[in-house]
Amino acid sequence: MEYRQRFAGPRGRDGALGYPVRVADWLRMTPEELDALDPLVAARADFMVDESVVYMDGNSLGRLPKATVRRTGAEVEEMWGRRLVRGWNEGWYELPVEVGDQIGELIGATPGETLCCDSTTVNLYKIVSALGALAKGGPIVAEGRAFPSDLYALQSCASACGRQIQYIEPGPHGWTQTGAVVDAIQDGAAIVVLSHVDFRTGRLLPMNELTAAAHSAGCLIIWDLSHSVGAVPSRVSEWGVDAAVGCTYKYLNGGPGSPAFLYVNARHLEKVQCPLFGWLGSRDPFAFEPTYEPASGVRKFLVGTPPIISMTAVEEGVRLVARYGLSAIREKSERLGDLFIHLARRELVPRGMSLRSPEQSADRGSHVSLAHPDAYRICRALIEEESVIPDFRTPDMIRYGLSPLYTSYCEVQRAVEATARVIDSRVFEKFERDFAAVT
Ligand SMILES: Cc1ncc(COP(=O)(O)O)c(C=O)c1O
Repeated sequence: MEYRQRFAGPRGRDGALGYPVRVADWLRMTPEELDALDPLVAARADFMVDESVVYMDGNSLGRLPKATVRRTGAEVEEMWGRRLVRGWNEGWYELPVEVGDQIGELIGATPGETLCCDSTTVNLYKIVSALGALAKGGPIVAEGRAFPSDLYALQSCASACGRQIQYIEPGPHGWTQTGAVVDAIQDGAAIVVLSHVDFRTGRLLPMNELTAAAHSAGCLIIWDLSHSVGAVPSRVSEWGVDAAVGCTYKYLNGGPGSPAFLYVNARHLEKVQCPLFGWLGSRDPFAFEPTYEPASGVRKFLVGTPPIISMTAVEEGVRLVARYGLSAIREKSERLGDLFIHLARRELVPRGMSLRSPEQSADRGSHVSLAHPDAYRICRALIEEESVIPDFRTPDMIRYGLSPLYTSYCEVQRAVEATARVIDSRVFEKFERDFAAVT
């Protein structure tokens, strides 16, 4: 059987299903009532769920879809086990471009602009370096509080291509302000690199508006979609975004260390080159020519042999998001966040926590961050004593991830109540202040 047919998933649809109550009435309902009204309630059954655990870290590592268990099992047994190396001619070779296009649909890319490969950090290096050749003279502008690995990639890229990096410092709330980005663009930025959703605070930047501002100043713009892909819709092609990268292990539920993606707008694709020449990005890998000639299109950004099993897990995760639709996912994400903030204001702010995420859902991605001087130990106690799993970001922040396909309104309530209990009982004091290797 054809590889595509063998592992074909149901076709996706999009469009909000709509809730039969207005937001104003929403917060007066109980979480049980909200769950009963949730158009995405069935999606939870598509994931492995241990009901004794409240998982609030889908913004870091998404849950395991049941389809992924079946698919990766079949991929290992049938394809690797029986088809062996024939698998490369039976679907594997095309997988990075095909899964890339499926991710591309979720970010509004045109087919042929998106590739599933490598890690986000590596992909960012590749596209900044590639677009650097098209950019005018001037600095690379980055957010001073961007995800550090993005900054490291930019630092190594800047030193290789002889550009300066100019940092935009955050405003009083701890996130990058739109006006500061516009100022940096108008001051002569050559390339600006921004996170669609800030990994600490969840602040969502207006991609369309900032892309237009960059282009009107002759500046190229690159977006890191790690914390928005699968949770917040975007239309990268229509908005003319020059390039983008992102993770697949968060809201796409691709699994630990699953390959990331990159997008390059079609108008640039034939003009740019990948800074690292690899055989699978070459025109004809099996010609074994000693001198590199790039493949055409986005495939040129492939370098070495892709991690096929992991990529099939990405495909299953992406299919689930496509099946339920990003409009419905975004709608629920906003409502989960609104409920979380509403309950946190009532239960946690009086207990010494403060909100570090935007109040308005239109300005927020799909996690909410709260700060407390003892945040690390509170987070440890939540995990160890309450089976509630958020994560901690230094120096004082707990992030609560709200992943609409499987997070329920009741879980939001349980997470807030557990946090209140941990603070009241002071049980967190029994935990060390020393950070674990992974927080
Ligand atoms: C915003 C952002 N960018 C980049 C990365 C790094 O991704 P990778 O480990 O795939 O390089 C992360 C990881 O969580 C992230 O949150």
